[in-house]
Amino acid sequence: MSETRENLPLQRLNTQSGFGKTEDQKNVADPSFKIGENIGGYRLTRFIARGGMGEVYEARQAQPDRRVAIKLVSPERLEDLRRKDRFFKEIRVSSQVQHPNLVTFFDAGVDRGIPYLVMEFVEGDNLQNLVHTSGPLPENRALRIAAHVARPLATAWDERQILHRDIKPDNILFDIRDGRIRLTDFGLGTIENESGDLTFTHLLIGSPDFMSPEQAADPTDLDQRSDMYALGCTLYFLLTGMPPFSRTDVAAVLRAHQTETFPDPRVGNPEISEACWRLLQGMTAKARAARYRTWQPLLDDLHDVRKGRMPSRWNAQQRGNEGHSLAQNSAEKMASIKNPPWRRLLRGLSGRGGGGDR
Ligand SMILES: Nc1ncnc2c1ncn2[C@@H]1O[C@H](COP(=O)(O)OP(=O)(O)OP(=O)(O)O)[C@@H](O)[C@H]1O
Ligand SMILES: [Mg+2]
Repeated sequence: MSETRENLPLQRLNTQSGFGKTEDQKNVADPSFKIGENIGGYRLTRFIARGGMGEVYEARQAQPDRRVAIKLVSPERLEDLRRKDRFFKEIRVSSQVQHPNLVTFFDAGVDRGIPYLVMEFVEGDNLQNLVHTSGPLPENRALRIAAHVARPLATAWDERQILHRDIKPDNILFDIRDGRIRLTDFGLGTIENESGDLTFTHLLIGSPDFMSPEQAADPTDLDQRSDMYALGCTLYFLLTGMPPFSRTDVAAVLRAHQTETFPDPRVGNPEISEACWRLLQGMTAKARAARYRTWQPLLDDLHDVRKGRMPSRWNAQQRGNEGHSLAQNSAEKMASIKNPPWRRLLRGLSGRGGGGDR
């Protein structure tokens, strides 16, 4: 098969943005497990990529005979029992959300101390890689993808109050078999740390490039507008090829999300419409009260902008003041937290060793 944009081998997908991962994790290409090895009854057939939690392989299930993707979680991620319980609970809850744009979880377990998660295999590429190899996407296509990601997020929130918490281009797959957009890793961003909150481990998993100001400040008090912000940052990436705040270190990125004006994507790409920019502002206002309140008006505006109309369900003028003062509150709240999650993240990153999983 030739290497076109649409069928690039998944082995080449180890091109993460890098935040939240050690240098070793970013650079090591060698898998920790042998091809042919059996984990939990699944035979590993191909190494796909290493991510923030462990490694993803293509595998074969015997009964029913099918191809699956298996995520082998680094045991250090789930070393205590409580975290392991939480991991499996999250998977149980997340697997109740069914949507054509979601990757379905099939199974989860622990084999010889290695926690694993079995999912539907998606033949294709993730959006991070797609944009890195082919460049920014045309506006209409980027908006269509955003709508296809927003729909399962709306279903999960409206029906069960479940958040994704780690929306980013790496977690959005493009299925070459049917062209469908598939969101992965639903709910995996909520594993508890030792002190019982949801922050430290999550930040190591997630990417600050796409993280809402409130998620960095207090990840225990989030709603659908936090995923919406991350989807807005992802849309910006699809349109420009860059995350909104490119900085040299994690703290600077998180600070920029808190305090700096969201960049106008038309500066780098003049073909982007005014309507699209306005929609993006409605998704990424610093204060969540200044964003679209729920998913449906956003979905309606995504539809309208794709049809060449201005978005009408979010009004920048009306919300400008409210957004500004609430953004200040959020920044003050962040500054007042004595030991914010991102500070622990930095300590964690500087103290972490290599990426070997076994
Ligand atoms: N169900 C799947 N089918 C095929 N490929 C997959 C599947 N799930 C994940 N992948 C591939 O494996 C890569 C690594 O996934 P993984 O979730 O471990 O890391 P990540 O998404 O980069 O980071 P994070 O751990 O923060 O989610 C993905 O980017 C994707 O390309
Ligand atoms: Mg992932």
